[in-house]
Amino acid sequence: MQVVIVDTPDEVGRLAAAKIGHLVRNRPDAVLGLATGSSPLAIYAELTRQVEEKGLDCSQVRAFALDEYVGLPQGHPESYRAVLERDVVGPLRMDPANVHVPDGAAADLAAACADYEARIAATGPVDLQILGIGANGHIGFNEPTSSFASRTRIKTLAPKTRADNARFFDSPDQVPMHCLTQGLGTILDARTLVLVAQGESKADAVARMVEGPVSSMCPGSALQLHADANVIVDEAAASRLTMDDYYRYTFANRPEWQRFETFGG
Ligand code: GLP
Repeated sequence: MQVVIVDTPDEVGRLAAAKIGHLVRNRPDAVLGLATGSSPLAIYAELTRQVEEKGLDCSQVRAFALDEYVGLPQGHPESYRAVLERDVVGPLRMDPANVHVPDGAAADLAAACADYEARIAATGPVDLQILGIGANGHIGFNEPTSSFASRTRIKTLAPKTRADNARFFDSPDQVPMHCLTQGLGTILDARTLVLVAQGESKADAVARMVEGPVSSMCPGSALQLHADANVIVDEAAASRLTMDDYYRYTFANRPEWQRFETFGG
């Protein structure tokens, strides 16, 4: 696992976006895994700047969302399809036909999950999966005790996750109870993982993910099993890591040949 600690939340986004931009320049039809939530917004803002000012072309990029709420009416502004269209697909000038989101409005949700796995298998593997982490250690919507072998499926959201996401809705009881999410096994199939976290509220989850035991009690700790997992955090989110000096030292001293392909510098 590569852990990179930077000074500010914006720098988290800039560094992750440098890596993603580098991938897309080299492989214009790269398959990206898209995350929602506040954490990746700085990535999308920086990629948008690259599209507008640096000619980054995302028109052939293919993408799979991590997750989706169940039961929101079609077109609800807080459905993850709507959020991704607003924050990512439009600004990055992606082709909406290339962007896939689990169908949380399907009559047969189990079939929708199987169909989603089949589409990823037919298109993928995902080249680079963007991730955030919940305060309870969840990734995607894989709540604590999720199986590390899990695939896309229906989950019940933890009360803590519903409370955290209530800020996007008019009232807490409007947050859906259920979701469809890529499983931890699905996420681990991606070639590269880039997880970003900012702020003190994520410090505990980050420490458990990076330095805690591999345990389904912290779904993010599944990243310890991945051969190319990159965790980019600001000072506040890094504040409970015990080996922070080592992560700074290794990043500052990474070999010259590794620099561009890892983090764009
Ligand atoms: C949601 C999403 C996750 C996200 C997490 C953290 O529950 N399903 O993909 O990582 O919340 O969100 P935020 O980045 O807003 O803190």
